Amino acid sequence: MISAILLILASTVLSTPAPGRKTMAPSAHHSNPVGAAYFMTNDPSGNYIVSATIAGDGNLALYEAIYAGGVGASGVMANPGIDPLFSQGSVKVSESRGFVAAVNAGSNSVAVFRIDHANPGRLSMIGSPVSSGGDFPQSLAINKEGSRVCVVNGGKTNGVSCFKYDDKKGLIPLKNTIRSLGLNQTTPPSGPANTPSHVIFSPNEQQLIVSVKMPPSGFLAMWDISSDGALSTKSHSFVGGALPFSLLNVPGKDAIIATDPSVGYQIFDFKSKSVSATAIPGQGAICWSVFSQKTDNFYLVDVGASIISEVHLGRSLNGTIVKQYSLGVDQPLDTDIAALQHNEYIYSLAANVTGITALAVNGQGRAQIHQRLELAGPAKEAGLPLHRGNLQGMATYVRKW
Ligand SMILES: *[C@@H]1O[C@H](CO)[C@@H](O)[C@H](O)[C@H]1NC(C)=O
Ligand SMILES: *[C@@H]1O[C@H](CO)[C@@H](O)[C@H](O)[C@H]1NC(C)=O
Ligand SMILES: *[C@@H]1O[C@H](CO)[C@@H](O)[C@H](O)[C@H]1NC(C)=O
Repeated sequence: MISAILLILASTVLSTPAPGRKTMAPSAHHSNPVGAAYFMTNDPSGNYIVSATIAGDGNLALYEAIYAGGVGASGVMANPGIDPLFSQGSVKVSESRGFVAAVNAGSNSVAVFRIDHANPGRLSMIGSPVSSGGDFPQSLAINKEGSRVCVVNGGKTNGVSCFKYDDKKGLIPLKNTIRSLGLNQTTPPSGPANTPSHVIFSPNEQQLIVSVKMPPSGFLAMWDISSDGALSTKSHSFVGGALPFSLLNVPGKDAIIATDPSVGYQIFDFKSKSVSATAIPGQGAICWSVFSQKTDNFYLVDVGASIISEVHLGRSLNGTIVKQYSLGVDQPLDTDIAALQHNEYIYSLAANVTGITALAVNGQGRAQIHQRLELAGPAKEAGLPLHRGNLQGMATYVRKW
């Protein structure tokens, strides 16, 4: 009798979610996920990281939402709508060390979460959120080893700062890494022009690179990184394009492909020190981008036209449009790509319809819409404040087998 009561008690304790955790769509949970996708509510009442597990066939199922220890925020826009952080990389994953990092844009902080290897939908915060070293953090970069995290801030005090990642303590500020961008901004910033968008490491991780949208002369700000992680006191600029947004290193080349919602994309060629713009006909606002190992192509995400353009870069960095995929009313924002055992899948935050669009990559020119996951209903049921105008971020984790 007593043991039965204890058993009931124990199982009640086990099934009660910890504070700051909200189970989502429990009847649809995967029994054997191979990975997960993460985005955030970026809500001013409290920022939550939402996880959706990925099954072996690329399908998503919502898992839970975990409090990120801060609040979201929104930049000031002429036409308030979607994409309040004007950035790529507000949520990032380290696959090598198994953690998620996310910005709390309204609390000027960065939080990190351990990924449960057995169930990648399950996150636990490591330590406490740390100061982002400035105002309105927008984007994060993690090095390949997962030992360092850098953030770019775009508010009144704007610029970058970096941290050491520790499995037990979380993020520890690195000395001599708070560096200014010198933008004349407010908190929250007015945008999207005159704000940074994306921070990345160069392929050899000896430079930290930030895109700054500043029409007519956008630029990349670049700091040298020394072996202890410190950043050079001064940055150099590589001017090009009006609104350089997301940045991807072009594999095997000393070049970056930058989306630019004023035209299509720009190639920053470090070898020839030149920038060339390519217009994508009919583009609305190409902001986000991912690279596919499977097809060797770039997928450029256009929120304005609601189209993903698959682009191939030739040997001389000349680009050709392989195919364009219309996403209907989805208006994709933040996007990541996950390589599963048999295929790759692209996951885009469809904020305006409070959903996620999944595409199966399949092969060159053969991507297809695979799934549309609805968020508003499950969020309401879970008691999670979630608004289409605030949602941001997308990052995936795939278990290595
Ligand atoms: C979002 O959806 C609404 C309708 O729900 C529509 O009026 C609006 O144009 C869409 N796009 C943006 C950017 O808000
Ligand atoms: C900064 O921007 C404000 C508002 O646009 C402007 O009034 C001010 O003159 C600017 N300051 C500098 C130093 O450019
Ligand atoms: C441009 O790229 C295509 C393939 O992507 C290639 O066939 C063509 O020769 C390239 N042109 C130049 C000038 O390199």
